[in-house]
Amino acid sequence: MEKLKFRNKSEMPILGLGTWKSAPGEVYNAVKTAVEMGYRHIDCAAIYGNEKEIGKALSELINEGTVKREELWITSKLWNNNHGKDNVIPALKQTLTDLQLDYLDLYLIHWPVAFKHNVVNATKAEDYLSLEEQPIEGTWRGMEEAVKLGLTKNIGVSNFSVKKLKSLMEIAEIKPELNQVELHPYFQQNSLTEYCQSNNIHVMAYSPLGSSDRPVGLKKDDEPVLLEDTNIALIADKRGVSVAQLILAWIVQRGISVIPKSVNSSRLKQNLDAAEIHLSDTEIRDIAALNRNRRYVDAKFWEVPSGPYTTANVWDE
Ligand code: A2P
Repeated sequence: MEKLKFRNKSEMPILGLGTWKSAPGEVYNAVKTAVEMGYRHIDCAAIYGNEKEIGKALSELINEGTVKREELWITSKLWNNNHGKDNVIPALKQTLTDLQLDYLDLYLIHWPVAFKHNVVNATKAEDYLSLEEQPIEGTWRGMEEAVKLGLTKNIGVSNFSVKKLKSLMEIAEIKPELNQVELHPYFQQNSLTEYCQSNNIHVMAYSPLGSSDRPVGLKKDDEPVLLEDTNIALIADKRGVSVAQLILAWIVQRGISVIPKSVNSSRLKQNLDAAEIHLSDTEIRDIAALNRNRRYVDAKFWEVPSGPYTTANVWDE
C-alpha cells in the first residue's frame, strides 16, 4: 500500500480504519480483524468513546506478535473541551492510557471549536468559548509540547478551513502535518486540497462513504445517499468493483489518505483492497463531475442561540 511521507520521515499508510460510530462491543473485533487482514493505520478520537476497547485490541495484537507497535500508524484527536495549552498533555495522556500506547503517530485538534473544560457535550451558549477567548495558538503550543515530550510523532488539525490553516501556519513553530476533513465525490474539497498539497499539508478524508450510519440527529430527510449513486454504480460495474471501492480508489489516487469505517469483515477487506485499484483518467474525470458541494457533517450542531459558533464561521464560508 502507498504511504504518505511526513516531514520527520514518518510514513503513513494511505488507507486506514475509521472508528467513529463503531460501538464498544463491535470495535474490538473490527480492529483485531482489520489488523489481522493487513490494516496498519487506525483512526481514533477520544470523543468516539471507544478508545479503551481499541486499546485492548491493539495490546493483544502487539503482545500476540501479530504486529509490532512501530508497524502501526495510530491517530487520535483532542476533544473540544481540552483546547488551551495546559489541557492538551493531560488529554493526550488519557488517550494513550486508554489506547495502551506510549506514543501516537498523529494527534489532531478535532474541531476549531472550544468548550469550557468541564463540558463534554455543549448544548447552550455558556458551554462554549469563542476562538477569541480560547485562541487556537494556545492549543497549538500544547500540541507542539506533545511532540517535544515524545507523546506524539506528528501533529495536525481536523475540520480547518484554508483561512484557519493560514493563520495557524503563521504562528506554528511545528507546522501542522495534516488536515482531516470530510471529503468524497459529493464534497470534493478541491480548493482546500490544492492549498494543503501546495503547502506540504496532507489531507485525510473522513466520511468517505457518506457515513450513512450517522446518528439521526446528524441526518437530513432529503440527503442524497452516496453509496446509491447510479453514476458511480455504472463505472464500478464496468470495473467489477463495488461503489465503495471505486470511491476509495478515487480518493487515494488524488494523494489523499482515507479512513473508511467498517465493523464487517468482508467490507473491511473490500475497503483495504480498494487502495490497490488504479482508475483511468476518464474514470477520475467522470467521478470529479459528480461534485455537489454537499457536506454530510455540516457543523450545524455547534450552532446554539447566542453561541459563538455558526456554520459560516466554522467553515469560513
Ligand atoms: P459497516 O460498518 O456495517 O460496514 P463512512 O466511512 O463514510 O463513515 O461510512 C461508514 C458506513 O459505511 C457504515 O455504515 C459502514 O457499515 C458502511 N460501509 C463501510 N464499508 C462499506 C462497503 N465496502 N460497502 C458498503 N458499505 C460500507
